[in-house]
Amino acid sequence: MTGFTDKNGVLYADDISLTEIAAVYGTPSYVYSASKIRANVRALQQAFLDTLPEHAQPLIAFACKANSNIAVLKLLQTLGLGIDIVSGGELKRAQAAGISAPKTVFSGVGKSDAEIISALKSGILQINVESAPEMEHIAVLAEKIGIKAPIALRLNPDEDAGTHAKITTGTKENKFGMLREEVEVLYRRAADHPWLEPQGLSLHIGSQLTTLEPFAAAFKKLADLAQWIKEQGLPLTTLDLGGGLGVVYNQEKAPCLKSYATLVRDIIHPLDTQIILEPGRMITGEAGLLLTRALYVKEGQHKSFVIVDSGMNDLARPAMYDAFHPIRMVENRDEPMKTYDIVGPICETGDTFAKGRHLPPAMPGDLLAIMVSGAYGYVMASNYNTRSLPAEILVDGDKHALIHERQSVEDILAQETIPDWL
Ligand code: LLP
Repeated sequence: MTGFTDKNGVLYADDISLTEIAAVYGTPSYVYSASKIRANVRALQQAFLDTLPEHAQPLIAFACKANSNIAVLKLLQTLGLGIDIVSGGELKRAQAAGISAPKTVFSGVGKSDAEIISALKSGILQINVESAPEMEHIAVLAEKIGIKAPIALRLNPDEDAGTHAKITTGTKENKFGMLREEVEVLYRRAADHPWLEPQGLSLHIGSQLTTLEPFAAAFKKLADLAQWIKEQGLPLTTLDLGGGLGVVYNQEKAPCLKSYATLVRDIIHPLDTQIILEPGRMITGEAGLLLTRALYVKEGQHKSFVIVDSGMNDLARPAMYDAFHPIRMVENRDEPMKTYDIVGPICETGDTFAKGRHLPPAMPGDLLAIMVSGAYGYVMASNYNTRSLPAEILVDGDKHALIHERQSVEDILAQETIPDWL
């Protein structure tokens, strides 16, 4: 079986029931389906195989920030993926997973000296530059270590992605990238610089996009600028289109991959460069869930609450973005549904996973699955309330493994010290 499916009312990850996973590894735990990750990657690859000639297939550079567990990255590496990193830490993860430097791109507005130097030394495909001072600084560091820096300039196309304000990145109000006029000036300057090698442009307009129009508009602006660069006789070998493809959390429709690939073919392919994509959420989002157990069922006069053993520290998305995640009982009971708010143990009202959800009558000890949590789930977890980071489990067919041990409170305390003058 692929992904999360129901067998006689019990939720399975591939061929293993979540009841068994909980018994072996405890809760709260993130559970990922390797087969679903593979299927997501293949769907994207296939859309492009069907659309673009073989020599023009894009480099799919998985946005590591979405799910950076090294076992997940290793799985993606075996499928031929590259990686989009945003920190020196993520570079180390990519290396640990065996993803080669020529398949690695480095994005982000605030790269430190150490991060830039380690990326250059690794032989990275390109650094996506987000500002003029960053470009100047990369040049200084490149000269210092004697490695010419391959860069792409990130265009801010000033296109509203029509997604949540906190994950919109491509308008002139956002801190990301540079407007076209500035890119033109910097691109020329980079081409004349002995320690910079401008090789293309990058772009990323936001996350969880469910329509293709914003992509089309942004890609056109990118293509126009790329055409201008070519006409100036400046080098242009890569175009990085960012990520942003949405997934289904609730009633929304995920964008059609074939139509997305067709957009890329029609707008970007004619420029004859290597095409880079940076999808995150669409690769791992639906391939992961947060497995949690009901601690108490609080039947109020006004409302009923299921209080579970995971909180906003484990999965921040509902508290942070009012995000909707489907939630189901691992073992469904064929009884009339009741209405619950599903909440965590943390001392904040925001620690609410869902409001007014219909579930079979809940009991302490029931297992619940917070679905579509494989992207921006574990990676955003924290130790708030001195709660240990959850475990991560990978299932593949009938195999399962602990890929990230549950953190212990001792692990947390071990990094703190009381000064001897107290
Ligand atoms: N490339 C760049 C430069 C990005 O900033 C991002 C995401 C991606 C690629 C991947 O985008 P995706 O394909 O996953 O949409 N924590 C938020 C999402 C933040 C996205 C940040 N950038 C959430 O939980 O919704």
